[in-house]
Amino acid sequence: MPRAIIAPSVLASDFGQLTAECKRMIVGGAEWLHMDVMDGHFVPNITMGAPILSCVHKGVPGIFMDCHMMVSEPEKWVDDIADAGGAMYCFHLEATKDPLALIDQIHKRGMKAGVAISPDTLSTEITDAVANAAEMLLVMTVYPGRGGQKFIDRCVPKVAELRARFPEKDIEVDGGVGPKTIGICADAGSNVIVAGTAIFGAENPESVIQELKDVVNT
Ligand code: DX5
Ligand code: ZN
Repeated sequence: MPRAIIAPSVLASDFGQLTAECKRMIVGGAEWLHMDVMDGHFVPNITMGAPILSCVHKGVPGIFMDCHMMVSEPEKWVDDIADAGGAMYCFHLEATKDPLALIDQIHKRGMKAGVAISPDTLSTEITDAVANAAEMLLVMTVYPGRGGQKFIDRCVPKVAELRARFPEKDIEVDGGVGPKTIGICADAGSNVIVAGTAIFGAENPESVIQELKDVVNT
């Protein structure tokens, strides 16, 4: 399995101190930062867009921004997110008719491409061609739209199915992940771990980051 990557979801941070919160996570051992972009259409909430990402990119040197695009027309934002310094552009399979063309568009702008599936989408809906073209697959373990939700156990078998098909691929889990649920995610084969509430809500976020990493790496 590829190495563990911990990506704190800044949705659970204090947006008034966003850059400082992001720096704190990197100093605390996080490899990536997970940026939840919501458009109020694909999901019922609005969060942040390219202007905010751009500030974070300028304020936190060398940061890898894992941009989770919960938007209806993912083709529309590739240029803006690339210009803002996005490193991973992860779109929802449910939101596009032509995932291969979109992956190509993302790569042309120098970003890695991720393909996300919501709880009601089967792992088999990610074709071999799409998975092979992308750098990462994201299995949502809550319905996209807000942080702090309860982990949905029935999503976990999809991680195992994808890991069996793609032994070397980065497979991310997102939603309700923390010390109590990391074990089954890691056992199923996910190596990129998003956690919002579990990290930002902890008294000592650094130790939670380390704990999550240790479970995946052992
Ligand atoms: C949900 C977002 C998640 C969320 C994770 O729509 O995509 O990234 O912020 O937060 P927690 O870990 O609190 O469930
Ligand atoms: Zn997310």
